[in-house]
Amino acid sequence: MSTDLTPATDGPAPIRISRRTLLLGLGAIGVAGAVGAGGYWLTEGRSHESSLSFTTPLRIPPLLESEIVNGERVFSLTAQAGDTQLVPGVRFSTMGFNGNYLGPTIRAARGEHVRVHVTNNLTMATTAHWHGMILPASQDGTPHQSIQPKSTWTAAWQIDQPAATLWYHPHPHGQTELQVGRGMAGLFLIDDDVTTNLPSDYGVDDIPLIIQDVTLRGGGTRPGPPTTAPIGRIGNTVIVNGTHQPHLRARSGLVRFRVLNASAARCYNLELSTKAPLRLIGTDGGLLPAPQPLTNLLLSPGERAEILIQVPKDADFVLRSVPHDLGMSRGDNLTSGADDTLDILRITRTSTGIDGVLPDTIPLTAHPRATGGLAQRHFALGDTTINDKTMDMDRIDTVVVAGSTENWTITNTSTRAHNFHIHGTQFIVDTINAEPAPSPNRGWKDTVLIAPQTTVELIVPFSSFADPTTPYMYHCHLLWHEDQGMMAQYVLTDEEHPRASWLPEHDEAHH
Ligand code: C2O
Ligand code: CU
Ligand code: CU
Repeated sequence: MSTDLTPATDGPAPIRISRRTLLLGLGAIGVAGAVGAGGYWLTEGRSHESSLSFTTPLRIPPLLESEIVNGERVFSLTAQAGDTQLVPGVRFSTMGFNGNYLGPTIRAARGEHVRVHVTNNLTMATTAHWHGMILPASQDGTPHQSIQPKSTWTAAWQIDQPAATLWYHPHPHGQTELQVGRGMAGLFLIDDDVTTNLPSDYGVDDIPLIIQDVTLRGGGTRPGPPTTAPIGRIGNTVIVNGTHQPHLRARSGLVRFRVLNASAARCYNLELSTKAPLRLIGTDGGLLPAPQPLTNLLLSPGERAEILIQVPKDADFVLRSVPHDLGMSRGDNLTSGADDTLDILRITRTSTGIDGVLPDTIPLTAHPRATGGLAQRHFALGDTTINDKTMDMDRIDTVVVAGSTENWTITNTSTRAHNFHIHGTQFIVDTINAEPAPSPNRGWKDTVLIAPQTTVELIVPFSSFADPTTPYMYHCHLLWHEDQGMMAQYVLTDEEHPRASWLPEHDEAHH
């Protein structure tokens, strides 16, 4: 089977202009901004693309249909493989759910009982993990809930967490990079009944952006092997929602983006070419109390962010990824893509449509604050180890009392950047190197980037789903590291335990 995700272009044939030509041609214009025909130039780093060629309408993953059966909202997913023209004229071997690349967006509301049937039409085992979801371990789609080829697994649970942008992807032991890297990823949006004035018309002013990287060789004419970096496989070409060089014609002056870094290893340091602020409104597990203006937003694999972007009339600019420091040696940063400048999405404004009003506040998702007495645990990250061990599916590494809250301190003792993801919870990043965590990490998180020689302290409220025999995972979400066994397991047990006290936090004061 094969699919072609590339719709007809909506502009003139792509023109490739070298950076040098652009710099010469645009010498009179001093700052990045609208330049008539929509040309931009890149001021730093490596990029082989010009946003002049970003003419393909951004594809929007469809919302997955559901039906209500016996009070449950029932969805069906089928894992499948094929090949997909991710870049015009270049076909890639891909995998997806209900299609050959990526998966549909699942959407359900807090309080609903959901049931998802997952059928495996691949020739290898897979799983379906609900990343960021707070649910019983037996429904989590970890390596312990393997789905063999030609069989169906069903997960069922009640959604009980605030509105958030979660995602789903396979988690087969040792094969996650292969399957996610080929496109097995989809969004899982949770709604709740808290009223906000945020843009919320899916695909119109509430736009998902699932970012992956692939590798083109031979002057962009064929797929090639990715660069092997200390953090995993790095591609040289960005694909957003299955669209190469995407263009969004915004119909509204205020657009909400739900960004998912679904790449195996590449981090994206997002900014607007106009240098206008990105307004962060949500992190992995929910909304923030108020928009946080940021010039840059660094997202490592597995992390999500919700941002608001103001799109003035006649605007023509790009969301791009710019160089950043992963805290590794110069050479390791370079091979890991940290020096690259890559355009992600060109955004223009249609002449019709209304201007949006930027909200000052977002109804608060109460953030907890610890008042001491939390159980402490320490984890040391090595090159591909956690506390000097690699994953053993038959070993329980950590036993946690269901319903308790713990303080987890994670130190990256290696020379490689890592991130750290915990299943079955949303946590608060309390400190980074003993300083209060900066704004992009101040919200509910399930995945956090940890540079070499960095220590993060997390406050982790665990759910009440005790099950002493079925583990949840915690691991590095750089998928090559994860496949190498940089993963461990915890179970929730029922024993009595003194409960930590929690206070809702409503303001900037983090301590
Ligand atoms: Cu996104 Cu254990 O996974
Ligand atoms: Cu997960
Ligand atoms: Cu890692």
